[in-house]
Amino acid sequence: HLTDSGPTYHFMNYQFPKDFIWGSATAAIQIEGAASEAGKGPSIWDDYCQQHPERIFQQANPAIACDHYHRMPEDVALIQQMAHNGYRFSLSWPRLLPQGTGALNSKGVAFYDRLIDRLLAAGIAPNVTLYHWDLPLALAQQGGWGNRQTVDHFVAYAEHCFRLYGDRVPHWATINEPAWSILNGYVTALHPPCVHSYKQAIQAAHHMLCAHALTIQKYHQGDHNGQIGIVLNMSTVYPATQSSQDRAAAQLADGALNRWFIDPVLLGRYPEDIWQYYADWDLLPEHSGEELGWFTEDSIDFIGVNYYYPHYASGDATTTQFHLNTTGENDPQQDCVFSIKGAFKFVKNPQGRYTDWDWEIYPEGLLQLLQRAESYRPGIPVYVTENGIGLQDQLDFSPSLPVQQHVDDQERIDFVAEHLKVIHQALAEGVNVKGYYMWSLMDNFSWINGYKKRYGFLYIDRDNNLQRYRKKSSYWYQSVIENNGF
Ligand code: BG6
Repeated sequence: HLTDSGPTYHFMNYQFPKDFIWGSATAAIQIEGAASEAGKGPSIWDDYCQQHPERIFQQANPAIACDHYHRMPEDVALIQQMAHNGYRFSLSWPRLLPQGTGALNSKGVAFYDRLIDRLLAAGIAPNVTLYHWDLPLALAQQGGWGNRQTVDHFVAYAEHCFRLYGDRVPHWATINEPAWSILNGYVTALHPPCVHSYKQAIQAAHHMLCAHALTIQKYHQGDHNGQIGIVLNMSTVYPATQSSQDRAAAQLADGALNRWFIDPVLLGRYPEDIWQYYADWDLLPEHSGEELGWFTEDSIDFIGVNYYYPHYASGDATTTQFHLNTTGENDPQQDCVFSIKGAFKFVKNPQGRYTDWDWEIYPEGLLQLLQRAESYRPGIPVYVTENGIGLQDQLDFSPSLPVQQHVDDQERIDFVAEHLKVIHQALAEGVNVKGYYMWSLMDNFSWINGYKKRYGFLYIDRDNNLQRYRKKSSYWYQSVIENNGF
């Protein structure tokens, strides 16, 4: 029921633990803007959007994004209004270190100081990701994640961050979704550096995992009060049919996308079957024995999981092809395609419910993913660090509508509620879920989808000075937080 003060709910069927973190998430390049201001260096994404505007829907770019860099106090006030007790964001490596290494940019340092202090003053716990895909361009030009030196540069950057903010940040994550960062950068080539090379993909992934492992060691060796983990997507993968070919394809897809990343992080070693598979294709990464020793069990304090949709793997992959629906037109011609010849391809679920961008809505996938995290290490604290739905939200100022309905995103409320229900079930089964961060706090630069695909609790009016408006879902979520359930 909507009242003047927002929605009220009469039944509390889903009660959450009392210390549960309720938040939303963002990433620096997707919201900050001020791309070449105040000493910030260019990132690989700033450059990509300039060099290849045609590859981004409606030629969008992150130069201004949501202008959060200038409007941060207003944004933190809105987060507080929405009653969040947590907020996940990322630091921009090139804002702090314009060349990726060397001297710190004092204005960048001061920006995050102000952000963290304001959040804490508002009772909102920061959950900080060190790397959410905005590699400094200077490092990209020296080979990026393909270059072993990037590992050392990343660790040095992380140590700066711990020294600058470690006294105030309770939760750190090293890297956001290493698997998709690598797949999109080096396999699908939909994201920069836009390379099609399995060999380079596996090498870059190895370096990323090394950077993660060393950073965790450094954090734990330091005198910090907080906890550190990583954010993995851990996409649930099902066989398209029960044929042995599809089951083998699902096992391979799960190994390449999930286990190749989860196992080093949680078990301290690469999965043997995929190691052998890559060895057979001469794809193993160059590595030193010492590096493999950096992967240890029990190194992380928590795991962050991002979940959007599941995959159905078929072994009938006769072509190599990748495509993402960026139009949001719900057009079968635009359906997402991910097919690796001779390995696996992802197919649609004929019974599935799909968004206009062709992403399936399947909350049960999140339940299985949470159970899986628990099975890797019983009792490990798990945060759902991203979960959300891209919609074509619209502003409607009809005088008959209360302010809470100026952006009526009921579909987002339904989506979040369905996913919270399965989180509640996971809790009942004993999974140690500690918090939920909806993607996203605000409509933002959705990578190659540009700005049409809206994810936020806050509507950003791109036709009117980036004005912020709370959507109906934000009032609903506020009531969930205030009741610690719904
Ligand atoms: C996650 C990323 O994979 O998916 C976010 O961590 C991203 O940065 C989100 O925005 C949704 O993806 P997209 O491409 O629809 O914006």
